[in-house]
Amino acid sequence: MTKKLPEGFLWGGATADFQYEGGFNEGGRGILSHDYETDGSQDNPRHHTLKTADGSIINPKSSFILADDVPEDAKPVFLDDQYYPSHNAVDFYHHYKEDIKLMAGMGFNVFRFSVCWSRIFPNGEEEQPNAEGLKFYDDVINEMAKYNMEPLITICHDEMPMDLALKYNGWTSRKVIEAYVKYAQTLFEHFGDRCRYWLTFNEINAVRGFGPTGVRKATGQDRYQAAHNMFVASAKAVQLGHKLVPGSQFGTMYAMSEVYPATCKPEDMFHHLQEHRENWYFIDIMGRGYYPSYSRELWDRHDVKDIKMDPDDKETLMKGQLDFIAFSYYRSNTTKAGDNWFNVGGNKNPYLKETPWGWPVDPLGLRYCMNEIYDRIQKPLFIVENGMGAVDKADKNDYVEDDYRIDYLQDHLSAMADAINIDKIPCLGYTMWAPIDLVSLSTGEMKKRYGFVYVDMDDKGNGSLKRTPKKSYNWMKHIIETNGAALNN
Ligand code: BG6
Repeated sequence: MTKKLPEGFLWGGATADFQYEGGFNEGGRGILSHDYETDGSQDNPRHHTLKTADGSIINPKSSFILADDVPEDAKPVFLDDQYYPSHNAVDFYHHYKEDIKLMAGMGFNVFRFSVCWSRIFPNGEEEQPNAEGLKFYDDVINEMAKYNMEPLITICHDEMPMDLALKYNGWTSRKVIEAYVKYAQTLFEHFGDRCRYWLTFNEINAVRGFGPTGVRKATGQDRYQAAHNMFVASAKAVQLGHKLVPGSQFGTMYAMSEVYPATCKPEDMFHHLQEHRENWYFIDIMGRGYYPSYSRELWDRHDVKDIKMDPDDKETLMKGQLDFIAFSYYRSNTTKAGDNWFNVGGNKNPYLKETPWGWPVDPLGLRYCMNEIYDRIQKPLFIVENGMGAVDKADKNDYVEDDYRIDYLQDHLSAMADAINIDKIPCLGYTMWAPIDLVSLSTGEMKKRYGFVYVDMDDKGNGSLKRTPKKSYNWMKHIIETNGAALNN
């Protein structure tokens, strides 16, 4: 069966502002929740730096949230002896023309990037947006238009202006819904004439495990209340976007690690069904517009007493359903009775090899996922992240022979093509994470590289930032110019 994809398929790459853009302290950008996160590694997790009222420094480990379980009086601080990767990242802020040209060179017709919320509203609640911030993204989008590359904009990629997080305890407060909707409206009004595809949130289901952005003590109650507020914020943005940007289409992005039962023992099978609902909860509510029947049982698992809802929230969710389901896919996992409810990577799958970061490589899992989501929600899909984090060894000219990445992509793209051509799953496009090397979200290091393009920078931000295409760059160019047909070779 041919791997050639339907006409109009969108091919591109995906990035996130705090991992890619830099430009901290430039163009009126405010401080972002991720700005207080240090670098890290697999053995030495990244952390936030905070100071308590008595002057002591605390370093809670965390990635998505402000900090888990820290004293109320602790405030984030920058320490001179720490490195904070989001501040410069790999400096897309000053390299955007060069990077877009490199992406266009591969034939990308879409580029997914996230807008930095605190670049538009520095403290989250200003009356007027920051004009310099809007201009930066105008410049980016106009540069892309020169190459007929359209934007897929992530409105919120696991982040929020730090002032907003501190003032309201992040997404636990409905005040943040108002700030988000105003921010989204600003983006629709400024970029809507050039952008038809939007993602209201990145990996919203990660809230269940890592906690919602900006929340201090992420109890089950906090997590699921924050998730509700995010559902309402998304649904309001979808309705507003449809009104202000005719023809616009909206998704939210889900982290879809396919989960298999570890064995066919009935207890493991039943646990697997329940574990699946942990993720379906997020997709069902936003994709179908209402809370599913299993919600109460799921809340009980997480000690959620009650979700506070406004009287018109139900109608808002129903009217603000997503148009397509976007997801990231890197790996699969297995689960068995007794595992905790966020056991990502907890059990080995004896049938799969793993990346150096222990992520199982499972191309068929991508096809499985696509079938599963479409069977249930019956809305088009968009694969907005997929890729392989690896240790790249550059030669003296910064050239990398990344055959392992080519193998990974060949297998995953083939599985995607089979889902589209054989299983007849509608899929709008594929944006690979991440076309240009950038900082890892989970570990804060540069060593875990994903790109088609090597960036000369180390884990502490040293390097010339020079961009050099890897072997996979030309390989991907050929796949795109044949619209997938070359996957058959
Ligand atoms: C996704 C995120 O979870 O996975 C990205 O949306 C992230 O921000 C990507 O970078 C890969 O994860 P990591 O930890 O390898 O950077």
